Parts: sequence; structure tokens; C-alpha cells
Amino acid sequence: MKALITAGPTHEPIDPVRFIGNRSSGKMGFAIAKALAKKGIQVTLIAGPVQLETPLENIHRIDVETAREMFEACKKHLDYDVAFMSAAVADFTPLSSANQKIKKKEGQQGLTLELTKTQDILQYLGDHKKPEQVLVGFSLETHDAETNALGKLARKKADYIVMNTLQDEGAGFGHDTNKVTLYGATGYKKKFDLTAKEILAEQLVDSILG
Ligand code: CTP
Repeated sequence: MKALITAGPTHEPIDPVRFIGNRSSGKMGFAIAKALAKKGIQVTLIAGPVQLETPLENIHRIDVETAREMFEACKKHLDYDVAFMSAAVADFTPLSSANQKIKKKEGQQGLTLELTKTQDILQYLGDHKKPEQVLVGFSLETHDAETNALGKLARKKADYIVMNTLQDEGAGFGHDTNKVTLYGATGYKKKFDLTAKEILAEQLVDSILG
């Protein structure tokens, strides 16, 4: 059995020294990679820029920086049985990245960056999914959490979506714990208690793979 996982943030370059990024630590995705590998599943882990060791030696890790690189790496691994898209992929990237450091001019009061939409990797996988493949997306919400998560689940043609809200104490970016609700495309719903990401990862994997 083969698993594909994306984890962590992406960094979208503005110039050689600056980027647009986000606060994702990658811990949830790495914990899922570990939980799957412990079950003897062949894991490919596509990691954005994170400060994390590969959890187990037999995990095939590919390090990337940008949303584009993450997408290209995923496209080479479409023969998965189960995929967890846990990365916080940038939705927008600078239209062009300057070759040289952008210098401020005397008296300059503002700077406008033009951004363009990135490829939605989860959407691409959903659009190209074979019936026997299991595709899991993630959604981080601050309001109307259930409605937004269910909308994403349907729109991106995933089989499951793991939803967490920034409102929950100890959940989300940077923490070692998380509190999530798992929704399935056929009406399945399961709430998990606030727990260590390593344990939650095993519970999620067990709920999805049985
Ligand atoms: N995702 C992706 N590629 C992108 C953007 C998102 O694969 N370019 C995936 C994420 O890995 C995650 C899910 O899509 O599994 C999150 O959906 P998204 O619509 O990006 O959620 P939000 O960023 O929460 O979007 P919004 O706030 O715009 O609703």
C-alpha cells in the first residue's frame, strides 16, 4: 500500500531574501506519515520548509519550497492508495520574483505586490482520483467551520476532510496538540478530543483506513 502526504507551509519568493509564508509547523503531517509508516505502508512525504526530522527511516521524504514545487512533486506520485494533503499551501504567489533584492527608495511609503493564484493540489488530486483511491484534505477555519469544511470536501472531490478551528485552545499551528473533526463525503462525522498530534494521527489513520 502507498501513501502520499504533503506537510508544512510553502515559501513563495518575493526576491532572493524575502518570501510569503505561513505559520504551519508540519507536525500534523509528519505525525500522519509516522502513523502510516508504522503500519507498513510505503510513505512519500512531500515537505515544505519545516524544522522537523523525518520520523522514520523508511519514509521517502522530498523537500520543496514553493507551491509549484510541491505540486510537481505530487504529480510524480499519483499512484497512491491514500493521500493526506495536510500542507498549508500558499493560495497566492508573487506574479514574478525579483532577481535582485528589492531596495526601498528614499521617501517611499508603500509597496504593492501582484499575486497570482497557485495550483490547488488537493483539487487536482480530487479531479484525477481513481475510485479506489482515498483522498483526505484539511481545512483550518476561523468561522462557519462546518459549512466551510463541508463545502471544501465537496468542491475538491475529497473522500474526507479534517477540520480544525483556530478558536480551540491548543489546536492548530505550532502546537503539539490538536482538536479536529473528521467529515466523510458520505455523511460520516467524528469529533476527536484535544490530544497530542502523534496520537491523533494514529486515530485519524485508523478511522480512515479501518
Ligand atoms: N490545498 C492544496 N493546494 C493549494 C491550496 C490548498 O493542496 N494550493 C489543500 C490543503 O493542503 C488542504 C486544503 O487544500 O488540504 C485546504 O483548502 P483551502 O481551500 O486552501 O483552505 P483554506 O486555505 O482554509 O482556504 P480558504 O481560507 O480560502 O477557505
